[in-house]
Amino acid sequence: MVLAIYPGSFDPVTNGHLDIINRASKVFDQLIVTVLENPRKIPTFSMDEKVKMLNKIVAPYHNVEVDSYRGLLIDYAKKRGARIIIKGLRAISDFEFEFQMALTNRKLNCEVETMFMMTNNMYSFISSGIVKEVAGYGGDIRDLVPPEVYDMIIQKFASYKF
Ligand code: PNS
Repeated sequence: MVLAIYPGSFDPVTNGHLDIINRASKVFDQLIVTVLENPRKIPTFSMDEKVKMLNKIVAPYHNVEVDSYRGLLIDYAKKRGARIIIKGLRAISDFEFEFQMALTNRKLNCEVETMFMMTNNMYSFISSGIVKEVAGYGGDIRDLVPPEVYDMIIQKFASYKF
């Protein structure tokens, strides 16, 4: 049984994330979507809110589970017995930092491999940051996020306008 972890800050989850979840769920026997802290970003949504959003969108997938962890991704992978980390790549601009993280994670545990999935070009322009910026100014995010999480995001920004 091949188990993979799809980690991220998911602040909030977007259609780009869902596309990776959908495709990875077809390649691996089991996929764990794990919310982790990104110390470089100040989160808008709490860990619990992100888990709730992700649980809504993975409901149709029988081989996908959602989890959260505070700590190093590589420690989490060991704890769950996973040897594959899946990351989505949108553009060259993502590559440099993802490359650095992948090499650092391999240095920390050489038994865990990071694998990259290229974004679907329909979603290559979407990021959580862009979603927050559009929502924060009252713009339409309907085509950027899964319908199941739309209301939660809109509610958050109702009291959070820029
Ligand atoms: O969606 P993001 O913000 O690109 O995800 C980045 C994330 C959360 C996967 C990354 O910051 C992470 O792995 N955080 C946990 C701490 C850790 O293990 N850092 C990597 C050391 S190189």
